[in-house]
Amino acid sequence: MSGRRSSTILHEPPPRASSAHESSLYIPQPARIIRITPLTEMEKLFELGFLDGSRLNQQPGQFVQVSMLGVGECPISICSSPTRPDTFELCIRRVGSVTNRLHELQEKDTIGIRGPLGHGFDTHEMHGKDILMIAGGLGMAPLRSLIQYILDERPRFGQFHLLYGAREPKELLFKDDLLRWRESKDVNLAITVDRPDPQWRGKVGVVTTLFKDLSKLNPDQTVVVIVGPPVMFKFVVIEVLARRIPQGNIYCSLERRMKCGVGKCGHCQANHVYVCIDGPVFKYGQLKGMREAVE
Ligand SMILES: Cc1cc2nc3c(=O)[nH]c(=O)nc-3n(C[C@H](O)[C@H](O)[C@H](O)COP(=O)(O)OP(=O)(O)OC[C@H]3O[C@@H](n4cnc5c(N)ncnc54)[C@H](O)[C@@H]3O)c2cc1C
Ligand code: FES
Repeated sequence: MSGRRSSTILHEPPPRASSAHESSLYIPQPARIIRITPLTEMEKLFELGFLDGSRLNQQPGQFVQVSMLGVGECPISICSSPTRPDTFELCIRRVGSVTNRLHELQEKDTIGIRGPLGHGFDTHEMHGKDILMIAGGLGMAPLRSLIQYILDERPRFGQFHLLYGAREPKELLFKDDLLRWRESKDVNLAITVDRPDPQWRGKVGVVTTLFKDLSKLNPDQTVVVIVGPPVMFKFVVIEVLARRIPQGNIYCSLERRMKCGVGKCGHCQANHVYVCIDGPVFKYGQLKGMREAVE
């Protein structure tokens, strides 16, 4: 294990709201599963509450380390907004040892939570701005927290465009939310899938095809948030830069393999950043030229 490095750190350690857990980021706190909602064949939504009744006090874009005794721990984005503070939600895709076991749990079971960890989105910097958000696949999970935040604080923001792409209709996450958002005047939602099924009546194509229907953006007034697989990120950035959005107005969130989540082990290092503490949310200008980070 390497110690926490002393070279360039992009951010100071994240400010932590007062929480019963602020001094125990190393010790999992027990949290009860209040509700489990299947979202797709691969993802379930877990609503959780700490046994001691305390609140998570997260920023949109932060993550937690989820643990099961005797199994292990893994990082998962918080997908609910701090404006809905009584409980918090995690959207978990089953892919391996920890996440498969999490999918076997039942309501009222208890798991361990460390966090909130990392740097999330600077929502204050977004106040007063138009927002263009682009989500690909599981990237919708961390973005849902920010989407809920914007909708709950709607007067603080200008226009809100949300572009969402999934490989197939059956992989679309948060379908109930999507239906609600589609009906709402508070967000301009466009959805596309790469491979339609016979029932699909919506748009077909990769997420960048949705840009042609966007109304004209005011570049200096617009904040862009991109979360999705690296290949999506690469092509979306080309579209965004072509619209003259300044690099400092573009946010993205990175996923790396993590262990400690608190800047101690070096597992998440990409070039000169530790994604767990310097991110997972970064500005595009910080990542430009960091091939390791975005490819
Ligand atoms: C900041 C952050 C936020 C995240 N948010 C979410 C989220 O909101 N929802 C979500 O579902 N997931 C999220 N993830 C991903 C999630 O952390 C992983 O899917 C999880 O760690 C898998 O753990 P596991 O024990 O279930 O799988 P593992 O048993 O670790 O296996 C996962 C997959 O990786 C492969 N694998 C295992 N070890 C290695 C290795 N050393 N090198 C290469 N491949 C390997 C396995 O074969 C398997 O396909 C996030 C990750 C990060 C870093
Ligand atoms: S330094 Fe351990 S996961 Fe980032």
